[in-house]
Amino acid sequence: MIKKESFKGRIILFSILIMSFLVVFLSIASAFLLKEISLHITEDSLKAESQEILNDLIDENDGEECKLPDVRISNICISEETLKTYNPKNKESVLVLVKDNKVIYSSLPEFPKNISFQSPTFQLKLKNNDYLFSTVKVENSAIPGVSLILGRNVSDLKKTLNVFVLSISLLGIGVTFLGGLIIYRKLNSEFKYLEDLILKIESISEKNFGNYKINCGHQCPQEFKFLAKTFNNLMNRIFRLVENQKNFLSNAAHELKTPLTVILSQVEIALRRERKQKEYREILENIKEEISQMTDTVKKLLILSRIELDKQKISFQEVDLKEVIKKSINLVTPLAEKENIKVSFKLQEDKSLKIKGDKTLLIQLFVNILENAIKYNIYGGSVNIDVKNTEQELRVSISDTGVGIPEKEINRVFEKFYTVKECDLKEPGTGIGLSIVKEIAELHRASLKIESKLNKGTTIYIAFKKNL
Ligand SMILES: Nc1ncnc2c1ncn2[C@@H]1O[C@H](COP(=O)(O)OP(=O)(O)OP(=O)(O)O)[C@@H](O)[C@H]1O
Ligand SMILES: [Mg+2]
Repeated sequence: MIKKESFKGRIILFSILIMSFLVVFLSIASAFLLKEISLHITEDSLKAESQEILNDLIDENDGEECKLPDVRISNICISEETLKTYNPKNKESVLVLVKDNKVIYSSLPEFPKNISFQSPTFQLKLKNNDYLFSTVKVENSAIPGVSLILGRNVSDLKKTLNVFVLSISLLGIGVTFLGGLIIYRKLNSEFKYLEDLILKIESISEKNFGNYKINCGHQCPQEFKFLAKTFNNLMNRIFRLVENQKNFLSNAAHELKTPLTVILSQVEIALRRERKQKEYREILENIKEEISQMTDTVKKLLILSRIELDKQKISFQEVDLKEVIKKSINLVTPLAEKENIKVSFKLQEDKSLKIKGDKTLLIQLFVNILENAIKYNIYGGSVNIDVKNTEQELRVSISDTGVGIPEKEINRVFEKFYTVKECDLKEPGTGIGLSIVKEIAELHRASLKIESKLNKGTTIYIAFKKNL
C-alpha cells in the first residue's frame, strides 16, 4: 500500500506525477508539431498545384473570346464550360475562382458564394469534411481582383493526427504505470533495509541495549549503513553515560555508607551498657568526626553535580586569579598549620591577573588542589604556588614535597572516586576532589597536567587562556 504521508509514498507519487506530466506534455507537443508540419506541407503542395492549374487553364483557352461569366486571365478568357470540364490532376482538390470576394466559379457546390478572407490560407468545414484552402492572386489579370482558391480535404489527416495523439497518450499512461511499478518495487526493496533497521531498533530493550549493535548487511545502501553506524555510536555514548551515572550513584552510596556504619557501631557501643561520661564524650567525638566527613563528601558530590547539571547556566565574569589563589590559601591555612606545612605564593610581578571565569568555582579548584598538596605531604613539608604570565596564558603550578603518586596511577587520579590504593603513607579521601578540579578546568577551557615522583612530591599545572 502506498501511504501519502510516508516518505516512500511521497517519492512514488512525486515520480508518477512528474512522469505523467512529461508524457502529457510530450504527446501534446509532438501532436501539435506534427499537425503544423502536415498542414504546412499540404499548404505548400496546394500553392504549387494552384500555379500548375493556372498554367493549364491558360494553355487550354488560348485565344478564346471573353464574355462574362467567362474569366479573363492575362488577356486570355477561360469559359465557364472549360472550368466545369477542367480536371485537376488531384481528384481530391476543390477549385474556386473569386472576383472581389464573390465566387465566380467553384467545383464544390457547397462552397459559400461570398467569401472574405484575411489570410491566404484558411480552413472550412464543408459536407462534414474539413478543408484546407490556399489562395493565389492571378497576376497580370485583365480583370483585376481575381484569385484562385485551391482546397483539399484534410479530414483524414486530422483523424490520423487524433489517432496519433490518442496512441501516444495511451503509450504514456502505460509507460507511467510501468515506471511507477518499477519505482515502487525498487523503493520497496531499498526501504526494506530501513524497515529492518526500525525492527531491530524496536527489539532493543533495557536488558540488551549495552551490547546491542544494529547492522543492515552488505547490500544495504550507504546512507542506511551510515544511519546504523551513527545509531550504534549514539547508543554507545548513552550506554556509557548510564553506566557512569550508575557507578557514580553506587560509589556515592558507598562513600556515605562507610561513615554511617561507623556511626551506627559507635551508637551500639554506647548503648550496650552504662558508661562513664568521659567514654560517652569520646564516642560522641568519633561520631562528630564521621558526620563532618560525611558532610564534606556530600558537599563535594553536590559541587560535582552542580557543575555537570548547570554547565549552561554558569556565567563567566572577569576574575583576578591572584585574588582567587590568595582566598584559596586562606581557606586551607588551618589544615596547613595543623600539619606544619608552609604554603608560599610566588608572583614575579604584582600586576593583577585577569581571566574570564566563575570565582566560586575557581576557588573550589584551587582549594581541592591545595588540600591534596597538604594532605598528601610530609609533616613540616611545603607547598609552592607559582604563576607565569605569558602573552596568551596564565600558567599556574602548585607543587608539594609530599608522598607522590606511582607513575602507573598518575593518569587515573582525575577519575571520579579514584584513590591511590598502594599509598600506605597517607589515608586517601573519597576521590572526588580531583574530578571536581578536572570539571572546573574543562569548563574554563584550561589545560591540566600532573607530574609526580614517589616520595619526592607532586606538581599540578593549570594554564588559563587570557582570551576565552
Ligand atoms: N598532591 C598529591 N600527592 C600525592 N597523592 C595525591 C595528590 N593529589 C592527589 N593524590 C592522590 O590522588 C587521589 C585522588 O585525589 P582526589 O583529590 O581526587 O581524592 P581524595 O583526596 O582522595 O578525596 P577528596 O579530595 O574527595 O576528599 C588521592 O586519593 C591521592 O591518593
Ligand atoms: Mg583531594
